[in-house]
Amino acid sequence: MPTINEILQTMDYGPAPESTKEAQAWLDQHERRFGLFIDNAWSAAAETFASTNPADGKELAQLTQATSQDVDRAVEAARRAQPGWVALGGHGRARVLYALARLLQKHARLFAVIETLDNGKTIRETRDADLPLAARHFYHHAGWAQLQSEEFADYRAVGVVGQIVPWNFPLLMLAWKIAPALAAGNTVVFKPAEFTSLSALLFAEICQQAGVPAGVVNIVTGDGRVGEAMVNHPGIDKLAFTGSTEVGRLIRAATAGSGKKLSLELGGKSPFIVFEDADLDAAVEGLVDSIWFNQGQVCCAGSRLLVQESVEERFLATLRTRMDKLRLGSPTDKSMDIGALVDPIQRQRIEGLVESARAEGCTIYQPVCELPATGSWFPPTLITGASTSAGIAQTEVFGPVLVAMSFRTPVEAVQLANNTVYGLAACVWSESISLALDVAPQIKAGVVWINTANQFDAACGFGGYRESGFGREGGKEGMYEYMTPLSEDARPAAPVVEAKGKVKASDSGNPGDPFAIDRTAKLYIGGKQARPDGAYSRAINGANGAFLADVGEGNRKDIRNAVEAAHKASGWAKATSHNRAQVLYYIAENLAIRADEFAARLAAMTGNKDPHKEVQASIERLFYYAAWADKYDGLAHQPPMHGITVALNEPVGVIGIICPNESPLLGFISLVAPALALGNRVVAVPSEAYPLAATDLYQVLDTSDLPGGALNIVTGSADELAKTLASHHDVDAVWRHDGSAEGCAEVERLSSVSLKRTWVGGGKGRDWYDIKQAGGRAVLGHASQVKNVWIPYGV
Ligand code: NAI
Repeated sequence: MPTINEILQTMDYGPAPESTKEAQAWLDQHERRFGLFIDNAWSAAAETFASTNPADGKELAQLTQATSQDVDRAVEAARRAQPGWVALGGHGRARVLYALARLLQKHARLFAVIETLDNGKTIRETRDADLPLAARHFYHHAGWAQLQSEEFADYRAVGVVGQIVPWNFPLLMLAWKIAPALAAGNTVVFKPAEFTSLSALLFAEICQQAGVPAGVVNIVTGDGRVGEAMVNHPGIDKLAFTGSTEVGRLIRAATAGSGKKLSLELGGKSPFIVFEDADLDAAVEGLVDSIWFNQGQVCCAGSRLLVQESVEERFLATLRTRMDKLRLGSPTDKSMDIGALVDPIQRQRIEGLVESARAEGCTIYQPVCELPATGSWFPPTLITGASTSAGIAQTEVFGPVLVAMSFRTPVEAVQLANNTVYGLAACVWSESISLALDVAPQIKAGVVWINTANQFDAACGFGGYRESGFGREGGKEGMYEYMTPLSEDARPAAPVVEAKGKVKASDSGNPGDPFAIDRTAKLYIGGKQARPDGAYSRAINGANGAFLADVGEGNRKDIRNAVEAAHKASGWAKATSHNRAQVLYYIAENLAIRADEFAARLAAMTGNKDPHKEVQASIERLFYYAAWADKYDGLAHQPPMHGITVALNEPVGVIGIICPNESPLLGFISLVAPALALGNRVVAVPSEAYPLAATDLYQVLDTSDLPGGALNIVTGSADELAKTLASHHDVDAVWRHDGSAEGCAEVERLSSVSLKRTWVGGGKGRDWYDIKQAGGRAVLGHASQVKNVWIPYGV
């Protein structure tokens, strides 16, 4: 008689197909041709293209390729609808969002099947992950709509929002984007990916049933050209994009200077770190979820396995055994783990990358599995033997391909984890809470999962560092992406700068006098005064035209030196917030001691009739940000899991700041102090017209315990220095607030290369005395980036 084990080994899964009857009926009901959904009405299908089922290559429906006129119509409808949508009030919008959540739940199975047919992902995933999460986003954001007047009293909706999403999570991305936008009072023009538009079109019907007013949600289908028309449309106030880093760059460059608010959620090459003390079996299961979920077509897929050398062999052996058990096949079969890739193009791309790894000498492991004869499929793949700089270790594959490397120490693990241009997500597996929580903050990524993988929730922000983009989706931080501070509307139309007196030749010092004291202010780099590299200086005359002093003319080399010094001062980021606050208080105290001197300088430079007011306001501003330093805390979210998600406000890194000419001391302090308070290191370019208030600070800084390199000051041409900062790969963000619209546009354009964050004031002015315009959480938000660390417990 066979033993129970022998019986078990002969048993296999039977087919468990999900019926597609309802979904097919829905497609038939539309005669398998869809127009656009604009202003609550369907347009007749015009020029169309096919949407196919990637599992069998069969056509599902014909979809409309929207024209730029269609985009115009959609934007106009959204614009018309926006005031009414705001006027409906928070509770009114909450009811609509709630209705959408309920209808998504009611039609969950139809949505899940449509999504599986259209995308190729398994029904197990669409049913158990995409749909519940999409509904959760509408519930959660119904809540934000309800609470908006209390929690976001100083904000308004941005206006008309353009949203462009990829094909990997079609409905979930729609929910991530549309729910917060609507909650905040925006109206939306939404473009699904051309491969996977059906669930968005079904959602349009749900909008009609939920009583979404006409024009509030508009859905336009088509390829990248439709996206481009949206990006360049002057009637769109904000763009939210998820997709490839390449297109993200194009969008950043195209919107430079347009004043459009922008959030980009781009690619990744996320590390999955396994320490020797991890629960290895659990880590293998986590890795299966991390890299083979949705066939690896996930921006935050754990595609780089970093495993500690001591357990490498054991871990990889268990992993291979587990890979052998993964079931690949019909996505509508409920017992499948791996479905079809979205399109043959994606399969070719993946194959190309795997073959080039093979050609480079890597070892490729793929379980023996029969691929269906039709459709786009790729087996789960493990690559070993790749160098850390190999193409396969650096390029986002966006497929079921894992590359494994080993490390010896936690320090090396962190180095390898950060050895990529991306920074979207990371997993850390260790049974030592101390080790895991020590490593998590050191990883440059917007999300870190400890002993878990690919967890998402509407209450927890998601988004990247570095070339993975900027902006967060979900949670309170995600809501800010869809709102504008009311104080922005109060800003003066142009900078108000004190006019200088006419230059009088007789007042201009006596440069020929060999005994005259050299009054050349140098640069301030690495905590020391430094001569400008080019050995040039520029004369600064006073309000009455008289020569006051020369300042160094900084150049590219000086900026490079300053950035290097800033990077060396990494200890500032790790200093306690208490310590940073003390340094800021100390700077304030030392400035107060020399208040008269600074006031005299301001009066001489700008003709300011009440210079003491500016000095006192600057001292107060230092106190203000010293106060914030240890109070801009993160949050502890409680998503629906047994554990917590800790949202940490981390510094952005090295920030280049072009300071305003208005209120040259107060403006400088108002920008530099929040950056320093949150642990950033700064390369500041003081007011080009009135730099002496900043150069006089050198001595104040020297006596205030600010570590060398935390703040570097380079005087000179704002345009030249801004360009160098914006093009510098080791600068993480650039702020420009000198009222130069063209200069700000240039900063945004140049920032697209390394996708650094920018905060620019454009051509408008700012009242630096008004704390609403020059302070608050909006400014602190620019000085920080949120990292969500997921910590499940009791599992
Ligand atoms: P993509 O970035 O080209 O497309 C994403 C969305 O942007 C689609 O709706 C597309 O129609 C639209 N789009 C394309 N060109 C545009 C333009 N110039 N202006 C405005 N919108 C435009 O991504 P694609 O081609 O679908 O995938 C290519 C690669 O990108 C993938 O293999 C993967 O590596 C990466 N990717 C990353 C995603 C992520 O979630 N981070 C999602 C999708 C793709």
